[in-house]
This record gives sequence, C-alpha cells and structure tokens, in this order.
Amino acid sequence: MAVDPRQILAAFLTISMFAMLGNMIKRDHFDYFLTTIQVQSAVRFEEIKISATSAPLNKGPWKPENQQLKQCWTRPLSKGRWQSNGLISFSLTNGPDRHVSQIADAVVIARYLGATLVLPDIRGREPGQKRNFQDMYDAEKFMRTLDGVINIVKELPPEAVSRTPAVVRVPNRPTEDFIAKNIEPIFRSIGYLRLATYFPSINLKSREKKNADLDSSACLAMFGSLELNLEIQEVVGNMTERLRTLNRKSSDGRFVAVDLRTDVLEKKVCNQKGIEGRRFCYNAREIAEFLKKAGFDGNTTIYLTQTWWHESLNVIREMYPYTYIKDDLIPANKKGEFLKPGSAELQRALDFYVCTQSDAFVPAVFGLFYGNVAGKRIASGRTQVLVPTSPPPDFLSSFVSKKSHLAYSCYC
Ligand SMILES: *[C@@H]1O[C@H](CO)[C@@H](O)[C@H](O)[C@H]1NC(C)=O
Ligand SMILES: *[C@@H]1O[C@H](CO)[C@@H](O)[C@H](O)[C@H]1NC(C)=O
Repeated sequence: MAVDPRQILAAFLTISMFAMLGNMIKRDHFDYFLTTIQVQSAVRFEEIKISATSAPLNKGPWKPENQQLKQCWTRPLSKGRWQSNGLISFSLTNGPDRHVSQIADAVVIARYLGATLVLPDIRGREPGQKRNFQDMYDAEKFMRTLDGVINIVKELPPEAVSRTPAVVRVPNRPTEDFIAKNIEPIFRSIGYLRLATYFPSINLKSREKKNADLDSSACLAMFGSLELNLEIQEVVGNMTERLRTLNRKSSDGRFVAVDLRTDVLEKKVCNQKGIEGRRFCYNAREIAEFLKKAGFDGNTTIYLTQTWWHESLNVIREMYPYTYIKDDLIPANKKGEFLKPGSAELQRALDFYVCTQSDAFVPAVFGLFYGNVAGKRIASGRTQVLVPTSPPPDFLSSFVSKKSHLAYSCYC
C-alpha cells in the first residue's frame, strides 16, 4: 500500500475540523435515542445456511450471506385510475434511518384513505435546511414502484397551494384503528392533511397481521420504494469499493461497519439505561474489545460512521490499524459537497447505505439507525448484525436470531 490517505488529507483535515467541530457540538441528537429496542435474550441463532463456494467465510465472525429470503407479500392490488379523495403532504426529517419509517407510514395512510400523496421534501436538523426529494433519492423509481398502489404527485397541485392543511401528528407505525379513529374523520372533512410522524417508542418488532393490504403496502414502501439517487449511490459505491480494496491482501476484501460517532457518544443520554437495564451506547474502547471478542483479527478492515477523526477513536486504530472514516474514503472531488457544514443528512445517508452493504455490522448506539439498517440487511440476506449484549460466540442480534424484526414479516 503506497499511499496513506490519512496523511494526504492531514492538512485539509486540520483546517476543516475546527470549522466542523463547532457545528457538530451544537447539533442535537437527542431524538436519536428515543428508541427502545428490547433486550436481547439468550437465544442462539439455530443454524446458518452455508453456501458451498465461500469456505473461508465460515470461519470466525465472517458468515456467508444467508440464502436470500423470499418476498412473502404480494404487491397490493392496483387501484388503477381513481378519483382521489384528497391530499396528503409531509416532510422527511431527521436523517435516512427515520425517512424509511416516515415513508412507510405515509404510504400506509394514503393507501387506507385513498389519498394522493405529495412527494415529500427533506428537512435538515437546522431550521431552514431544506432539500428536494430528488437531492437524495431516486424520485422516478419511488413513483414507479408505488404506481397504482397510491397516487403520487411531484408537487402540490396549484388549486391546493393557497389552502392550509390540517396538521396531524401520527405515531410511527399507526394501526388501522388509529387511522380510522384519528385521521380519517379529519381527512374526510378537510381533504388535505399534513402528517407529522413522531416516535413515542420505536418498535421494529413484527406484530399481529390484521390487514394484509396495508401490511403489503408497508413492506413495499419500506423495502422496495426508496433508493438513493445516482450521485449518492455512486459515492457509496466508491466508499465500499475502497474499503474492499485498501487492505485486500489481509482482509480478503471484507469489512465491518461500526455505527460509532463520537458526537453521539458524548451526549448525556448515553449514560442512561434503556429498558431492563439495557445500555444505549458503547464507547470506542468497548467496541474495540467487543470486535476482538467476536473474533475479528487485527487485520480486519473497519468502517466507522465518524466523519472526522477524533482522538478518542485512537484506541480502535491501535487494535485495528485498518480503520477508516468518511474523510478517508470519499473521493476528493466529492468532499466539498459531502463534508461541508450543513451536509449531515448526506453524511448519514452515506453511513446508512455503507452499513447495509458491509459484510458485518456492529452498532455502538441502539437507536432507529440500528433497527432500520438491520431491516435492510435482513431483507437482502446480510444478517451478520452483531451486538455486545447477545450471547457468544455468535453475538447475533436478536432481530436476526429470534427473527423478531418486522422485516421477517415481509421476507420469509
Ligand atoms: C466512483 O464510482 C463511479 C461509478 O462507479 C466511477 O465512475 C468513478 O470513477 C469512481 N470515482 C472514484 C474516485 O473512484
Ligand atoms: C496480518 O496480515 C499480515 C500480512 O498479510 C500477516 O503477516 C499477519 O499474520 C496478519 N495478522 C493477523 C493477526 O492475522
């Protein structure tokens, strides 16, 4: 390996770091922790199907991808040409891990009400930070996938521009009862809603199936409709490609993604206990020790979701020299756009998709990011999601070992 990207970028990093630092400290990540995901209990994953071609993968913490699960929902019947009953608008907020859930809720509600959905915009954490859907996601694919299931328009129709929608607060994953009781009456009388999803306690466990049509709509929205736009997909591709090649000789092109960001770990809420004594966060040292315990040797390539290096992460690089962050991996011509202040949403999008594509995933924070990355991984057969609270030697997340994740109600 001739060139160390860390050295090339050292100067750039020093200057930009101070600029970024002030910005990051201000940022409020509290909502990140609203999640309560239930304690993993001591059940071992029964057995992992092994594909014959990848013998070395069977050793240690590297498991082959499970056989891809089959989609066990059928596409909701197309309603064809319909008379729309009214309009629903909403915004995507708080990063891509939330976007997935917000999209699923809006689609389910629009399907139930026979409403027309206005393509959402994307709001950043800071007031006034606004992007178009297309700035992050593939709008054509989104509209194509949901065509006939719900009616979608790219923009608010002119006759609605001067109207004021009724704002409805919706708990994440609303039940059919909730929609019928609390949302439908307002919709019928006003015909134009603006949804504001909130997360009282995030529950990604599957629940009793009641309405196959709405469940299928949720599966389609959650796992089939949202894709990054081409530009961001390309940068994710560049990053994973570099992770697989930087250290190919001793890592066989595999890497572990760890969701660990120092600005999150510094939050007070990290010291609190989750339900049943479960911890919310693990620090850099604990994660490094966990990786060792799980069997990753010192040559393992590791991706941290950190943007700029922080000295508290040195403990990981001492044990795992091939540890990289975004600053090491984003192509030089894209750094301006993806690393400048105010681009936290884009950075989280990169993290979210790199973490869904790695050979193994280890969360240091047990929030919705963990839950929705796990869901995407389950849907695509990449079930190596390892957590310190699960039993050795596999340390497999109970989302996978107990199939408790709602992704298993979409993929069987
Ligand atoms: C990033 O990926 C794109 C598409 O695969 C490729 O054309 C481009 O050369 C890559 N850029 C770098 C710097 O590797
Ligand atoms: C790491 O890789 C080097 C070079 O390929 C090898 O000599 C060494 O034994 C490896 N160390 C471990 C812990 O696997």
